[in-house]
Amino acid sequence: MDKNEELIKVANRRYATKKFNPDKKISDKDWQTIMEVARLSPSSMGFAPWKFLLIENDDLKKELYDHAWGAQNSLDGADKFVIILAKKNVTPTSKYVQHISEDVQNHSFDPNSAFVAKLQDFQDNDFKLNDERTLFEWSARQTYIPLANMMDAAATLDIDSCPIEGFNREQVENILNKYNAIDLNEWGVSVMAGFGYRDQDITPKKRQPMDEIYKVIK
Ligand SMILES: Cc1cc2nc3c(=O)[nH]c(=O)nc-3n(C[C@H](O)[C@H](O)[C@H](O)COP(=O)(O)O)c2cc1C
Repeated sequence: MDKNEELIKVANRRYATKKFNPDKKISDKDWQTIMEVARLSPSSMGFAPWKFLLIENDDLKKELYDHAWGAQNSLDGADKFVIILAKKNVTPTSKYVQHISEDVQNHSFDPNSAFVAKLQDFQDNDFKLNDERTLFEWSARQTYIPLANMMDAAATLDIDSCPIEGFNREQVENILNKYNAIDLNEWGVSVMAGFGYRDQDITPKKRQPMDEIYKVIK
């Protein structure tokens, strides 16, 4: 099988698993690989405005159950249950941007730099990220990139997954806060995912034909 065929095979093999086998566990090596793929994911400006919570606390999982209807299949049997947080208020002069610039990207941070001015202009004028909500959504959008990469990596390793938006954000945030798992001044819940091994057949893809979704503009 050539690389093109392999990629299509993995894309078909990944599916949103509705029934996991609770007895099958992901090896440490596989899980570390999936998390490393998440860590290496790209993000706008390289800010990586995310955090991954691996939920292993059974009481917390039980509390989530009634507030995360789309997660119940995963909570019932997925070996790993992950909640991805998105960073709030990623603004040019925030401590977070300063930390990423200095400690991760090894740039000296200067609030009067051309970079800060450019980012401010991008947020204010290009993308209109000008309030808490739009800034949070910008970060949350970035988190879907590692989410997708993790699911594809899992499928490559023959591991099943399910992405999850079926939850009440505020209630889930309050539960995480109760367990001291989140600082709500800094972070919000973006999306969740279960990873494990299926207890059902892989369902064939139902997708729009290519000519409905792909157009070449000349
Ligand atoms: C962002 C996102 C959120 C989703 N939320 C849920 C969910 O809460 N519960 C669930 O069972 N499936 C969820 N799904 C799975 C989709 O329903 C599924 O991916 C889609 O129907 C296509 O099927 P496939 O993934 O099996 O190819 C979600 C998918 C995405 C990408």
